[in-house]
Amino acid sequence: MKVKLDVGRFNPESEGDKSFRQEFDLEVEEYYTVLDALMQVRDYEDPSLAMRCSCRASICGSCAMKINGTSGLGCNTKIVDVIKKDGTVKVDPAGNLPVVKDLVVDMEPFWSKVREIKPFLQTKGPEPQDEYIAPQQAMLDLVKPVGCIMCGACVSDCTVLEVDSNFIGPAALAKASRFIDDPRDEMNAERFAQLNQYTGVWDCTRCMACVEVCPKGVAPMDRIMTIRDQIINAGIKNTNGARHAEGFASIVKRYGTLDETQLVIKTFGVLNPIVALKNIKALFGLLPVAYRALRKNKLPPVFHHKIAGVSYIKNIFKKLGA
Ligand code: SF4
Ligand code: SF4
Ligand code: FES
Repeated sequence: MKVKLDVGRFNPESEGDKSFRQEFDLEVEEYYTVLDALMQVRDYEDPSLAMRCSCRASICGSCAMKINGTSGLGCNTKIVDVIKKDGTVKVDPAGNLPVVKDLVVDMEPFWSKVREIKPFLQTKGPEPQDEYIAPQQAMLDLVKPVGCIMCGACVSDCTVLEVDSNFIGPAALAKASRFIDDPRDEMNAERFAQLNQYTGVWDCTRCMACVEVCPKGVAPMDRIMTIRDQIINAGIKNTNGARHAEGFASIVKRYGTLDETQLVIKTFGVLNPIVALKNIKALFGLLPVAYRALRKNKLPPVFHHKIAGVSYIKNIFKKLGA
């Protein structure tokens, strides 16, 4: 099978253009993965091509990269599954992390965020005489987050990290959930306080990218949503994120549709002078948005009306116990 590998390269020592694209025409076997093809290039065509890999079996997490623009593992992506009609496969380094050389990125920002969430069991009471015992079901519930191989594919495609590198990100938050849900860990209050701040769980825009690209089914966004619920259930509601979530639900429950004006009022606590004062900068930041909406005739009506079938919506909330 013929394939044209179109590789995004980066040479930090080049005196001219450090970034460039290079195409390699290869003859590969049907069972080849993208990583196999890259290794063929490195071994027989250009030994200067830099990449990371180790296990070649989706276990070590070293070979995350962008394949045709979407992140994944080179070693579990078969060429036949991604080759385009014109016979090319485009390969680029993982996103949202600084490139060191070719397909090798600096993972330090990734690891520093994982370290931030204190990825280890923390207890407060005296140590048990023999060992910590956890119910089997609790451990079964942890199977998904424990399966994370720290490859960074989710971080690479996270749309929030593209615009705000301070966001803790999907991998570290999924790791945090692994300890929050572990009955042996006793630091949930501290973990919630940390994740409730700017850079934490409320910064996720629920774009699903991390769920789609994760090669291990960890579904980081689902873990983030669970932590949000856990934070609200723990009674920590004095944040824009919590007010937004609760306000959104209460408006839809009442009217059957969303009223954006009321949502802004509830999210930024406009009716509470202390909260509103804290949010004054954010509120002023919305004025240009409101002005643009006004010019395009898209400003929501002042009085929002209930839709005809609102009782059905209320029933859904009732069934969900919300
Ligand atoms: S769902 Fe949230 S954490 Fe996941 S990629 Fe999108 S913004 Fe990032
Ligand atoms: S959550 Fe999935 S994509 Fe993200 S680091 Fe872990 S295994 Fe990789
Ligand atoms: S080489 Fe180990 S996960 Fe791909």
